[in-house]
Amino acid sequence: MPKPFNLQDKYFKKAKKLGYRARSVFKLDEIQKKFNVLELGMNVLDIGASPGSWLQYTRAIIGAQAKLIGVDREKIEPLDKDTIIIQVDILDEEIEKLIKDNQIDKFDVILSDAAPNTSGVRDIDHFASMALCQRVIKLTDIFLATRGSVVLKVFQGSDFAKFIVFLKKKFKQVNIFKPQATRGRSFELYIIAKK
Ligand SMILES: C[S@@+](CC[C@H](N)C(=O)[O-])C[C@H]1O[C@@H](n2cnc3c(N)ncnc32)[C@H](O)[C@@H]1O
Repeated sequence: MPKPFNLQDKYFKKAKKLGYRARSVFKLDEIQKKFNVLELGMNVLDIGASPGSWLQYTRAIIGAQAKLIGVDREKIEPLDKDTIIIQVDILDEEIEKLIKDNQIDKFDVILSDAAPNTSGVRDIDHFASMALCQRVIKLTDIFLATRGSVVLKVFQGSDFAKFIVFLKKKFKQVNIFKPQATRGRSFELYIIAKK
């Protein structure tokens, strides 16, 4: 009897073995190795953070003293006593107040692995992903430090090129990256932008 797909997946097995909550951690690991976005002591906001593998990975790099907030509309099991978890839909305006309530003025890095529930219709999924990306960029306007970086997941589609042009006006450096750990058929990409 064949195993379900995700049990055969090498990244899934490796994540489980290493104690990470999701295989997504290997995408962030590839991004980190190539673009070096996270450093010891940086304050980080992780959007679309459930179940929490990016939070686990980030905490190990930034150290125990740095501030780390994870946001998701789904529940995130507590990580350590210092990591703040906020359960909210990022499209809800309330998120700004909920972040501000923690007295962290600016973040050195804003990560977003937020992804809509996929419908299987590529255009619908693309536009849902773009809505999340636009929201994350609005949050970077408020919360990203002057020399900060953002990592953003996006599902490719008709508005992608226009979005990159928009980002290039806002950020000094904009890179597009497809990690090996992204499943073959997936049309997701990551944008790594630095102010
Ligand atoms: C691929 S998962 C993130 C995995 C995570 N980076 C990790 O390492 O565990 C995408 C997440 O985006 C979240 N998400 C999607 N739309 C959202 C929204 N509008 N507000 C908050 N979270 C959202 C989903 O709930 C889901 O947990």
